[in-house]
Amino acid sequence: MSDTGRLIVLYGSQTFTAQEAAERIWRTTKILDFKGPVQAMDDYPISRLIHEEFALFVCATTGQGDEPDNMKKFWKFLLRKSLPSNSLVKLKFGVIGFGDSNYSKFNFAAKKLHKRLIQLGAKPLLDLALCDYQHDLGHDAVLIPWLKEFFTKMQIYFPKMKTDTLENSFVPRWKVSISKNTECLNGTCLNEDIYYGKGYKDNCLDAQCFELEKNIRTTDETHFQDVRLITLRTVGNDKIDYQPGDVFNIRPRNCKEDVDDLFKIFNTHKIDIKPHYYLLVEEYHDGE
Ligand SMILES: Cc1cc2nc3c(=O)[nH]c(=O)nc-3n(C[C@H](O)[C@H](O)[C@H](O)COP(=O)(O)O)c2cc1C
Repeated sequence: MSDTGRLIVLYGSQTFTAQEAAERIWRTTKILDFKGPVQAMDDYPISRLIHEEFALFVCATTGQGDEPDNMKKFWKFLLRKSLPSNSLVKLKFGVIGFGDSNYSKFNFAAKKLHKRLIQLGAKPLLDLALCDYQHDLGHDAVLIPWLKEFFTKMQIYFPKMKTDTLENSFVPRWKVSISKNTECLNGTCLNEDIYYGKGYKDNCLDAQCFELEKNIRTTDETHFQDVRLITLRTVGNDKIDYQPGDVFNIRPRNCKEDVDDLFKIFNTHKIDIKPHYYLLVEEYHDGE
């Protein structure tokens, strides 16, 4: 029998905080020799969940107590009334909530997830972790001791599992390789324009749709953080629909001159990366 088994790490994250933590936790699980992926809940094939024995959920809350976009599909599925109350009897799990106690619906998404998993027959290994951005030490104040306890509980199931997580090797989530082939990859043609990739969201607007109205520094000049109040005005006929709680992301892009300079540096140093090469980014899978 192996010393460890499979432990999946699934996250719901709107602005990457919970995702970053999930990836960090997943690296720890690899150091402890557990198998299994780290994935956004919506990327995980949910029909497999009934076969899983161990899972960690890292779940942020957004909007007014809402679940992040990349777990909405997963959450909707879990809410199906037709699911029997013993659907997840095999599963032992932990939920780590990422929230901010300034919001009245503090960590709501994680609380709902924790409750629903129990309703479906899964067994919590620990109470849910309520990480709070308002804590002086940030989310880690709750996360670090909680994880320690979680892995102590895992030892009940895997008495021979490692306990030392201090190993220095870095476990990458992605495998990156260069494809010099100018043909499309796997029949899929990627965006040819290396200077200006379009955003992945449908409701992505071009920078030309906005004019800067105000850009005011809100922190004192002597303070180390430069925090800005930026006011944008739409120009032309573009209208944006928004509601309180919506988030506006600005996705910067590199200017053509900088990109060209980078390729000149590659060339000077005889690094074989050309503008027409593709970088193939694949998810790391251990034995799957
Ligand atoms: C627009 C917005 C709405 C939020 N709403 C809530 C909320 O209702 N409850 C809560 O506990 N935290 C709320 N938060 C705080 C986030 O949950 C917290 O910052 C978390 O670390 C974000 O994780 P993420 O970056 O993985 O999305 C909100 C944050 C933002 C930006």
